[in-house]
Amino acid sequence: MPKFRRLSAFPLVLLLLSGTAAPNLAHAVQTPPPQSAQQAQGDSVFADFEGNNYGGWTSEGTAFGAGPALGTLPQQMTVSGYQGGHLVNSFVGGDAAAGRLISPEFRITRKFIAFLIGGGGWQSRTCVNLVVGGKTARTATGPNTAPGGSERLSRSGWDVQKLRGQSAHLEIVDAATGGWGHIMTDQITFTDTQPPLAPQMQTDVSQVIASAGPRLNIPIKNGAPRRTVTLRIDGKVVQSFQAPLADETPDWWSFVDVGQWKNKPLTVTVDTLPENSKALFHIASTVPAAGQDSGYREPLRPQFHFSARRGWLNDPNGLVWANGEYHLFFQHSPFDWGGALKYWGHAVSPDLVHWTEVEEALEPDKLGDMWSGSGVFDVNNTSGFASKDGKAPLVLIYTAAGQPFTQCIAWSMDARHFTKYAKNPVVGNVTAGNRDPRVFWYAPTQHWVMALYVEENGKHTIHFLTSPNLRDWTPASVFPGQPGTNFLYECPDIFPLPLDGNDKKTKWILTGADTQYVIGSFDGKKFTPESSILPGVLGRGFYAPQTFNDGPQHRRVQIGWWRTETPGMPFNQSMSMPLELALITTKNGMKLTYAPVKELESLRATAHTLGAVTVSQTGGPDPLAGIHAELVEIRAEFTPVEASVVTFTVRGITVVYDSKKEELIVNGHHAYAPLLSGKQRLTIYADRTGLEVFASDGLCYVPMPVNLNPDDTILSLTVKGVSAGFNELTVYELKSAWR
Ligand code: FRU
Repeated sequence: MPKFRRLSAFPLVLLLLSGTAAPNLAHAVQTPPPQSAQQAQGDSVFADFEGNNYGGWTSEGTAFGAGPALGTLPQQMTVSGYQGGHLVNSFVGGDAAAGRLISPEFRITRKFIAFLIGGGGWQSRTCVNLVVGGKTARTATGPNTAPGGSERLSRSGWDVQKLRGQSAHLEIVDAATGGWGHIMTDQITFTDTQPPLAPQMQTDVSQVIASAGPRLNIPIKNGAPRRTVTLRIDGKVVQSFQAPLADETPDWWSFVDVGQWKNKPLTVTVDTLPENSKALFHIASTVPAAGQDSGYREPLRPQFHFSARRGWLNDPNGLVWANGEYHLFFQHSPFDWGGALKYWGHAVSPDLVHWTEVEEALEPDKLGDMWSGSGVFDVNNTSGFASKDGKAPLVLIYTAAGQPFTQCIAWSMDARHFTKYAKNPVVGNVTAGNRDPRVFWYAPTQHWVMALYVEENGKHTIHFLTSPNLRDWTPASVFPGQPGTNFLYECPDIFPLPLDGNDKKTKWILTGADTQYVIGSFDGKKFTPESSILPGVLGRGFYAPQTFNDGPQHRRVQIGWWRTETPGMPFNQSMSMPLELALITTKNGMKLTYAPVKELESLRATAHTLGAVTVSQTGGPDPLAGIHAELVEIRAEFTPVEASVVTFTVRGITVVYDSKKEELIVNGHHAYAPLLSGKQRLTIYADRTGLEVFASDGLCYVPMPVNLNPDDTILSLTVKGVSAGFNELTVYELKSAWR
């Protein structure tokens, strides 16, 4: 195959080769004429499926019925784009039916095979294949894999010049039984005219890297039909993914790291594209990967909260400290702005504040999408994945969200590249809704513990399992949920904390995605509650948090998914700041507290130290007047006099403390925040996508996602009522965590 040279004057990136004529096989209902009956020019229709039966084709299974369909089938959305009155439509019996339609053998004599195709976009399951010498030489699928697609057929085709002279047959496959489990095709033609799309190109990665850096541009249009993009080297698939490719101007650019394939000719194939789509042209473009120059400086890029370089992010996964590095894995859809197919993204940090995103750790596979789970540093090599003594594997335990959901493991010796365990899954399906394994080492009895979310008869329960080696798991106990509540719904976490800092009084916290928790004891197999269900985080948009396994200090650090929406950006959503958790005794019993980790202090650029000062309703200037900052940390300790109300305005968003009601009100959202010995201590952080406010020594933590006005950098402090005396009032201007 000649190498495609990507010159800007010749942007067409499709493979064009020379070829000869094709046999004249006009109708599917006819037997193929002798091979000698060749046409020198003009298209030769191999099958137009206008007959009442499939003629010389063999039909297996039930999905294709007795003959070509008269357009739309019962229960199907309106089918369009086919030619004539009939087409091949495997929706006979709905998506659940399966089958195969096999053409008579023919010889390839023309340059291209063109056809109309629609239906499911499942590779090798809803497809049209060209079979040569018993092997699939070319394949094409329909465009749809998600709800919201269309039953429209569009033109597609293959370049078959390399196969000229060979004997071949076509097979139309419907082996999918779920959503979009059908395939449609029509008007199969042998031609020397390149079909309107031939979704394949070959590109030399070294050229891309030389001119554009080690990234292949992927143009994305939010909501567009998902295409299957396959990257091959020497005919071998090196990567395959689904993406809503932009045919015209993209909404944003995603990318694939191609540095590892330097100097190799990379073939990029797209299952199907509409006529005149510019998607492949964009992928092959040698302009520097779009958005690379503005990475981490986009207008709505959080500056000290982790967000993915591109695409959608949700739950933090696999939080673990290993060999001096913090690992933050995360639910990631690298090619989607809204959540879709889930990968595990991966970032590392020496200090929880400065993160470097590295390659994806886990990609969807035949067991399903990669849903939430844990990471453990197996220092004793209990798993046996380390071949050498003294080496410790990093093991990930995750949910494969296929049919059914199961729990699987993968490991790495360099903490960058992960290998999935060949005998996955390690925990089979319990019920439909089992997911989010939270795994940790229980030292007293030297075994691993898994807390697994299991939905049982509409109830949210936590199943505890134990294992000596992360591979073999034994059920140990079940913690029942609370019927009719959200308590313990998905993403469980369980961890010990010393009560009031006293190691001899350790309690265990069991919590779920919405942060409500119970305090109790844990013996390595069973959790016994000692408290009622308590509210956790009191703000908005904080979900599915997880705490780190291990760490250099004796502390428990948590990160949550922070639902900050960033329209117009090539990425969406972020993580909360890292929080240090503690357990304290209050007059209302034991409670969790949240504090920003100390390492965040490294972001402080300029300090404005303004305390001690008294701020009153009547007099004096605003102590914050004249201070402008985009990224802000405010620390204040004050004693409000006679029910005074203290209001900080941070870049247009108000943070109010009502000392009479003992309430913190952030952007209109109320949370209980008691005075402690008559005092209130507030810590306010502001990033581009929201505020995080801590009050009452961490008993009240209010994250508030809100996109701040970039033009408003004003800070102010006012008091209503009598006054408030501030012992401490400091404003720090912060610098970005992105270097
Ligand atoms: C929570 C959650 C998890 C699941 C993941 C999928 O946000 O629904 O239960 O594993 O997201 O992305």
